[in-house]
Amino acid sequence: TLATTGDLVSAARDAGRGLPAFNVISLEHAEAIAAGAEAAASAAVLQISQNAVKFHGGRVGPLARAAAEVARGSSVPLALHLDHVDDGALLHCAADAGFSSVMFDASALPYEENVKATAEAAEWAHRNGLWFEAELGRVGGKPGDPPLNAHAPGVRTDPGEASAYAAATGVDALAVAVGSSHAMTERSATLDHALIGRLRTAVPVPLVLHGSSGVPDTELSAAVAAGMTKINIGTALNIAFSIAVREALAADPEVVDPRRCLASARDAMAATVTHFTRVVTDG
Ligand code: G3H
Ligand code: ZN
Repeated sequence: TLATTGDLVSAARDAGRGLPAFNVISLEHAEAIAAGAEAAASAAVLQISQNAVKFHGGRVGPLARAAAEVARGSSVPLALHLDHVDDGALLHCAADAGFSSVMFDASALPYEENVKATAEAAEWAHRNGLWFEAELGRVGGKPGDPPLNAHAPGVRTDPGEASAYAAATGVDALAVAVGSSHAMTERSATLDHALIGRLRTAVPVPLVLHGSSGVPDTELSAAVAAGMTKINIGTALNIAFSIAVREALAADPEVVDPRRCLASARDAMAATVTHFTRVVTDG
């Protein structure tokens, strides 16, 4: 069923569970997320990033409609979220395109400018019925980001600043920098669990972990136990996709039907979704 991100995040937080949020690039991603979440008997978020919209020629409608239809046909609650938006024009498409929530990313801006841009975006989102997430601190590692060391001083989110930021912007959830980094292809990140605990105490709204593909299972479980709620996973699906496509092509040099590769890729992504979902939802 098609659910709202706000409802799923609240339910997960009340239960002390994590809520997995997976990035959708293609129809097969959405189908794999639904199948994988059903196998784990869990809710999940289907999220489409601004970068994925760019990949589809700037058109958000076709992929958003496809993901919503997959969600409606699912036996578990799935919500549709617009991820990592910094383009105002795209932000203003979010409600009409069927999203129940949006993440506005002004994390690259200095603190005061981040607050101003985010508060404005949050006000617009709330006026249009959207649940709203923003980021303070630098998770880094997205395409176009400058190289960033997740452990460098000043990169991580300060609890005092986070509490002031949440109050000044009116966000419904806060993405924080606690040692993870986007687009890691090895699961070798170490998180600062003491910092997660301090942020949990300082910030009243649910916390979001980005770049979770690079975080080992044990660290992810500990992060949920310490107070992270929405757990964003993208690259792990694309690793599963790419390995499966390479294997399918190598296994049969004559293959020309893309469905052969895409079926393997979809199955591999679904298994990855089930795995991460169990890790973040098993208390
Ligand atoms: O917003 C999306 C996530 O932060 C995904 O990060 O691709 O490193 O798992 P990841
Ligand atoms: Zn992210």
